[in-house]
Amino acid sequence: MNRTETIDFEQIIERTLSGVVIIDTNSTVMYHNQTAYDLLECKVDNPLLSRDFSDFLHPHYHEICKERISQILVNKLVAEEMEQKLITCSGMVVDVEIKGIPYNGDKAPLALIFIRDITKQKKAERLLAHKDKLSSIGQFAAGIAHEVRNPLTAVKGFVQLLKEEMNHSYLETIESELQKALVTLNNLLQVSKPEQLNEPVTSINLCEELDAIIFLFQEKTYHIELIKNYQNTDILLLGKKNILVKSFFNLIKNAIEAINDKGKIFIEYNVLDGIANIKITDTGVGIPEEKLSMLGTPFYSTKDTGTGMGLTQVLAAVMEHKGQINIESKLGIGTTFHIALPIH
Ligand SMILES: Nc1ncnc2c1ncn2[C@@H]1O[C@H](COP(=O)(O)OP(=O)(O)O)[C@@H](O)[C@H]1O
Ligand SMILES: [Mg+2]
Repeated sequence: MNRTETIDFEQIIERTLSGVVIIDTNSTVMYHNQTAYDLLECKVDNPLLSRDFSDFLHPHYHEICKERISQILVNKLVAEEMEQKLITCSGMVVDVEIKGIPYNGDKAPLALIFIRDITKQKKAERLLAHKDKLSSIGQFAAGIAHEVRNPLTAVKGFVQLLKEEMNHSYLETIESELQKALVTLNNLLQVSKPEQLNEPVTSINLCEELDAIIFLFQEKTYHIELIKNYQNTDILLLGKKNILVKSFFNLIKNAIEAINDKGKIFIEYNVLDGIANIKITDTGVGIPEEKLSMLGTPFYSTKDTGTGMGLTQVLAAVMEHKGQINIESKLGIGTTFHIALPIH
């Protein structure tokens, strides 16, 4: 190696991409670098040094971590990279990859732990898996919907003819139930094959559209404080208006339905680096973490009268516009849907 000046290794370790932590047999933190401190969102009044490292372990991983730590400290073996979750000082869950190796301390054995933040990578993986799942479910559903819609349409036609010939009270019910089934099938076809709708791309003022949607819900929002924060309202977005309006309708409807008693809904809009960001945040019931991956699956609903088609439509619309969707939710606190759409 060529050196032109003395290298400050400590500075390198402090700022290296991985969090580095050394713990003793009580799992007390004896050393940490700046990256670990930042990753775990520690502060001067909430330090990392001398803390019990197991405070940061996600409950799902307590047992396995105990085993791995004993493997390092007692058996002096390396604990290879493993994907886990940690909980930061502010309560955020972060996806990490952790490797531990024995470290020979002066007095007692110590464990040197490397922590790599893989939150972004995991998010991208999850999104991709979700897209794959959706497109295969979508294709399957569209196939069935198509096959079932045609005979049902024929039956509906014959019921109408029958109604002209005779007047039986059941016929009304048959017709209206058939109509419901056809609406569901059409919804399904719409979300699984939105490109078939052939809607032209136009310039859209999304803020005006958001206001129009809010207006539609005014009767249902007496108990809700609606807070709008629109910026760059003059920048128009190129897209398929009906599809996008329907998506934001679905998201706002869900936000309203998530609030049982009193609550707030924040609707934010801004344009940054050619991307329109729309955030819809509610202070509603929230979504349990294990259910997040179900969102967008056709017919997945936790509501008595839900259709489970709203978010399927939203995801299809966002994909169609080459945008991105990010969902953050805390049970009992609320949910944010962040939609990012390229404006051109
Ligand atoms: N803002 C939200 N807050 C809490 N849960 C939500 C929210 N949006 C969606 N969900 C959950 O996702 C499910 C699917 O939503 P959606 O596809 O719109 O169908 P539906 O509203 O008909 O149930 C809902 O049943 C609900 O459990
Ligand atoms: Mg809905």
